[in-house]
Amino acid sequence: MKTMPPNSARATAWTALERHFAKTSGLHLRDLFAADPERASRFSLQVDDLFVDYSKHRITAETFTLLLALADAVGVQQRIHAMFSGTAINATENRAVLHTALRSPVNSPLVSGIETQVAEVHVELARMGQFVQQLHKGELLGSTGEPFTHVVNIGIGGSDLGPRLVVDALRNFQTDNIQVDFVANLDEQDLRHVLKNADPGSVLFIVTSKSFTTLETHANALAAREWLRANGCADTGKHFAAVSTNLKATGDFGIAPERVFRIWDWVGGRYSVWSVVGLPVAIHAGMDGFRQFLDGAHHMDRHFLETPPERNLPLILGMLDVWYNNFFGAETLAVVPYDERLRLLPTYLSQLVMESNGKGIDLENHPLDCKSSPIVWGSVGTNAQHAFFQLLHQGNRLIPVDFLVPWQGASGSGSHHKVVANCLAQGEALMLGRDNPAEPYRHFPGNRPSTTIAYPDLTPTVLGMLLALYEHRTFVQAQVWGIDAFDQWGVELGKQLAGTIIREMEDGMPGDRHDSSTAMLMRHYLRQR
Ligand code: F6P
Repeated sequence: MKTMPPNSARATAWTALERHFAKTSGLHLRDLFAADPERASRFSLQVDDLFVDYSKHRITAETFTLLLALADAVGVQQRIHAMFSGTAINATENRAVLHTALRSPVNSPLVSGIETQVAEVHVELARMGQFVQQLHKGELLGSTGEPFTHVVNIGIGGSDLGPRLVVDALRNFQTDNIQVDFVANLDEQDLRHVLKNADPGSVLFIVTSKSFTTLETHANALAAREWLRANGCADTGKHFAAVSTNLKATGDFGIAPERVFRIWDWVGGRYSVWSVVGLPVAIHAGMDGFRQFLDGAHHMDRHFLETPPERNLPLILGMLDVWYNNFFGAETLAVVPYDERLRLLPTYLSQLVMESNGKGIDLENHPLDCKSSPIVWGSVGTNAQHAFFQLLHQGNRLIPVDFLVPWQGASGSGSHHKVVANCLAQGEALMLGRDNPAEPYRHFPGNRPSTTIAYPDLTPTVLGMLLALYEHRTFVQAQVWGIDAFDQWGVELGKQLAGTIIREMEDGMPGDRHDSSTAMLMRHYLRQR
């Protein structure tokens, strides 16, 4: 499936790329590098602290021009402007998409018309800052009079993955001795594990849920409250704070309004780490650290909004994704950080990219006739080399890879060059390959594309830039496919059916509306429990 809906400029640009693909797809990167000594510098960019090398991609100068022509044909730049300006580009929910406002300086938004939202954001940030300060000073006390030394965020999806990643990634920026943990799973093993050795009197739970109706989060919050009660913390309200749009539900749960931090319906869950959803980050890295993280994202926002396409990093990387996804027929993108601190990045990106772009309907409700989101997966280098790299090098699928690597390693480490060397070697090996006709099992075909994203060190600012880069790159893909990247209706059916099955299990009887397989599995479960 390669073709796009036959409309206008987009169809013309798409067809030009198809013709170009037919002519050039057999070219080997080895030869492209040999023919052009300037290739590496031609196809790489420095944006603030990020250095991005995309020269190991199966493109020529003409491919680049044609990809940018496709971006232009779908109006990417107008759409970027529409997003930043607060147009309701989340069409199915009729909502603006303003995560960029969350990291905007208060007095100088990048576009006009969003001053109210930016001002509201800064009011909440100030409240959050006060709360963090009180917590760090030991002024907030639990029901037994102890200060909080352990914070547990209860949330799932975007209310978990972003703050969890950022706290883990900024492990070298901890400003206080407060331990920050995360509980997401409905499976009670998760909460139990986190609370195993916890001192109830010193635990503060942050219930993070945009809707405050999510099954998993609600169940974990109730279980946490029971655990507090069972462990002598009768005034459980003192042990809770919340982040939500649903102020009624947080009140019904018994969380005092001064402990509730607000988000807005124009913040998508998977784009929310920049809001008060980032409270665990601010507790861990301090408000200064959190603000630096926001600043990094803001730098990337400015770059995305203001830089011409041929030097616009998210736009270029998004169009390369389209090139592989829709022309080479690649199914997946592997993300391999050579940075232990980014071990959670692949999981975070799997929600960001696949919940955003895993759609089959365009903005006019027509079925897409091209593939949408790649499957995003990965793991840290060098571990991944000893797991799935065999397939990347010799398997018979094309899998573009994102390598991420810091030039500096753990402080005092004399061996970081070995990490960097492994990262560079993998990109080189994938690209060059090595012929061995005599021993085919030792033959490396090469011509396997990768991007290398390098940075001096993983500071809050760099991390903010990186995550915003991936957000905007995902946005660019969505514009080419003509989809709504900001809804997630695909998660609804399973939720509804689970609700029905839960009720029936509680009644001890499968209902008569199930298929025979599901009914059989329910009967097995009911017999075993
Ligand atoms: O999985 C669906 C989803 O709505 C995600 O988009 C969201 O991040 C997650 O559930 C959690 O939602 P909430 O923050 O409303 O609990």
